[in-house]
Amino acid sequence: PPKAVVFDLDGVLADTAVLHRAAWQQLADEIGVPLDEAAAARMKGVDRRGSLEILLERAPRSYGEAEKDALAARKNAHYVGLIGRLGPSDLLPGARAAVESVRRAGLKTALASASRNAPQLLDRLGIATLFDYVVDAGRIARSKPDPEIFLAAARGLGLSSQECLGVEDAAAGIAALHAAGMTAVGIGRAQELDKADVLLPDIAAFDISRFIA
Ligand code: G6P
Ligand code: MG
Repeated sequence: PPKAVVFDLDGVLADTAVLHRAAWQQLADEIGVPLDEAAAARMKGVDRRGSLEILLERAPRSYGEAEKDALAARKNAHYVGLIGRLGPSDLLPGARAAVESVRRAGLKTALASASRNAPQLLDRLGIATLFDYVVDAGRIARSKPDPEIFLAAARGLGLSSQECLGVEDAAAGIAALHAAGMTAVGIGRAQELDKADVLLPDIAAFDISRFIA
């Protein structure tokens, strides 16, 4: 049985995946690059620069490094504007209860979000104190689907990754969990998350007793 649960944030605990999506759409519209659902799904869970590279696959011209830095900063400014007024009511239904139930069952909890905005979001959502360990996204070199962020979470908890269960809403996140050797709980639809070991429609359906019985 697992000794800890590692949670993703955007799209799992908070309804912010749609805000990342909206911020990228705003940038896409500004620079005249098409952004379809398939590309947007591939951007899920991927860090800021990696997501920009996916967006720019369909750009009519190439961009230099300094321009890419500016585009990434512009997307982040859009996103920061969108999360500026979030509060505890913007947690997804059942999110706080899910994390609390894991703690009550005697397991540890960690947060493994690729977002550099995660610490600020945890504070705004009022759940910062529910995690034994929060990975610093700024110290992660390789984006999901690389396992680095989940290996860092396990290390931060003082556990092996085989002792951790991960919860993710992105295909890249499920792949990263498996690459780390963790059991992967997918939150979302089978068409996107067919590789998940367990698939749940939303975080409200997460029941830790199912994994420790
Ligand atoms: C999470 C989200 C991604 C986002 C990434 C980086 O993984 O799922 O959509 O691109 O964080 O977020 P940031 O806030 O650092 O730009
Ligand atoms: Mg996510």
